[in-house]
Amino acid sequence: MPPHGSALGPGSATPGLLHAPVPAGRARRAVLRYATPAWAVGCFERRGWGGEAHGRLAEACVGWRVRALRRCSQRCSLPCQQESMMFKAIVIDKDTAGYRAHLRELEEAQLPEGDVTVRVAYSTLNYKDGLAITGKSPVVRQFPMVPGIDLAGTVEASSHPRFRPGEQVLLNGWGVGESHWGGLAQKARLQGDWLIHLPEAFSARQAMAIGTAGYTAMLCLIALERSGLTPEHGEVLVTGASGGVGSFAISLLSRLGYSVIAATGRPEEADYLKALGASRIIERAELSQPGRPLAKERWAAAIDSVGSHTLANVCAGTAADGLVAACGLAQGMDFPASVAPFILRGVSLLGINSVTRPYHERVHAWERLAAEVDQQHLQRITREVGLEEALTVAHELLEGKVRGRVVVDVNH
Ligand SMILES: NC(=O)c1ccc[n+]([C@@H]2O[C@H](COP(=O)([O-])OP(=O)(O)OC[C@H]3O[C@@H](n4cnc5c(N)ncnc54)[C@H](OP(=O)(O)O)[C@@H]3O)[C@@H](O)[C@H]2O)c1
Repeated sequence: MPPHGSALGPGSATPGLLHAPVPAGRARRAVLRYATPAWAVGCFERRGWGGEAHGRLAEACVGWRVRALRRCSQRCSLPCQQESMMFKAIVIDKDTAGYRAHLRELEEAQLPEGDVTVRVAYSTLNYKDGLAITGKSPVVRQFPMVPGIDLAGTVEASSHPRFRPGEQVLLNGWGVGESHWGGLAQKARLQGDWLIHLPEAFSARQAMAIGTAGYTAMLCLIALERSGLTPEHGEVLVTGASGGVGSFAISLLSRLGYSVIAATGRPEEADYLKALGASRIIERAELSQPGRPLAKERWAAAIDSVGSHTLANVCAGTAADGLVAACGLAQGMDFPASVAPFILRGVSLLGINSVTRPYHERVHAWERLAAEVDQQHLQRITREVGLEEALTVAHELLEGKVRGRVVVDVNH
C-alpha cells in the first residue's frame, strides 16, 4: 500500500491529508520499499501528513529496510532531512582490531528493541562507564555497545502505557550501557519499565549531575535510616569522598544533620569536601592497608564505595551496633575481613544494588533526592563535557583524577 499517491494522495479515499508535494517514480518506490517505520513516520510528520494516514502509513511501513535512507537521499528531490535519522553516539567495538570506544554516527534503525524511544538530552560518566569505555573491566556484555548507564531526555515514541511522547524521563541502570545500548548517545530505545518520569524539581542536566552516583548515595542513606540511624548516633564515615557517590553521600548526610568524616586520597580536596559538609577529613591510607579484625570504635555508621581492605577496616572501626552501607569497589572487589565486627559488635553490613531497584523504590529515592539535594552543592559537584571529551574523561575517572560528577551534554 503506497503512502504517497493514489491510495492517500489528492483525490484518494482520505482527501486533504496530504499538503506537500510527493516524490515520484523511482524515488517514491525506494521510499516505499526500504524506509524504516520510524523514518517514514518522521518523514510524514515533517510533511504535515497526520491522522488516519499517519497510522496507516506507519503500519504499512513495517518491514522496510534502512538501505533506503541512502537510496532515498540520492533519488528523492524533497528535503527529506535524512540527517535527522542519524544520531551521534559513543560506540564500543571489540573485534580483530581490539577493544576501542569511539564517536560514531548511527542510524535510528540500528537502535535495539524497546517500547520507548528517547531523545537524550544529557547523560553522565559513572565509574562503571569508565570501566566500559576503557575496557579495564569486562562490564560490556555484547558488541557493538553504546555505553552510558544513565540518561535523561524526552520521549519521542512510546507504546508503554506509562509514558507519552513529549514527557521527560530518566533512567538509571538496568544493564543499560552493558547489555543494552545506553545513554551516551543522542537517541536511545529502552524498555519503559526501566524509566521513571523526571522529577519536576530537576532539569535533565541536574538529574544527570546526580545520576547513578547520587541515586546510589541516596539508596545508601535510605538503607541506613531504615536500619534506625539518626544523627544522634554519632559520626558517619564516607569513603571515596571526592568521587561521585562520596560527594553526594557527604552532601546528603550533612544536609540531614549528620556529622560526616570524609576519607580521601586527595587531601588537596579538603576545602571542597568541607564545602559539601564534611566536618573532618582523614587520609585514605589509614584504611586502605590490611588491618586488624577489630579496631578502635571510630564512627557510628559508614557509606563505603571503595571495597577491599578499606571496607574491612571500615567495618572493624564501626561502633557497637553500627551500620555500614557498602556499594562500591573502587579499591577492589575483594573483602578481606573477619566476622569479628559482626559477631562481637553487632555491626550490620548493608549491601546496596542500584541497578535493578523496583519502580516504586526508584521513584521514592528520586523524590527524596528532589527534597534533599542542595542546589549549590549540585553546582559545585558538577562539571560538563561533550560526547567526544567524555572518551578522555573516562580514563581520568578511573585514574581517580575526576572530582565529583561529570555531566555529558550528548548534543555537543
Ligand atoms: N552498587 C551500586 O549499585 C553502585 C552504584 C554506583 C556506583 N557504584 C560503585 O561505587 C564506586 C564509586 O563510584 P563513583 O561513580 O563514585 O566513582 P568515582 O567518581 O570514580 O569515585 C571513586 C572514588 O574512590 C576513591 N578511590 C579511587 N581509587 C581508589 C583506590 N584504589 N583505593 C581507595 N580509594 C579509591 C577516590 O576518592 P578519593 O580520591 O576521595 O579517595 C575516587 O574519587 C565504584 O566502584 C562504582 O562501581 C556501585
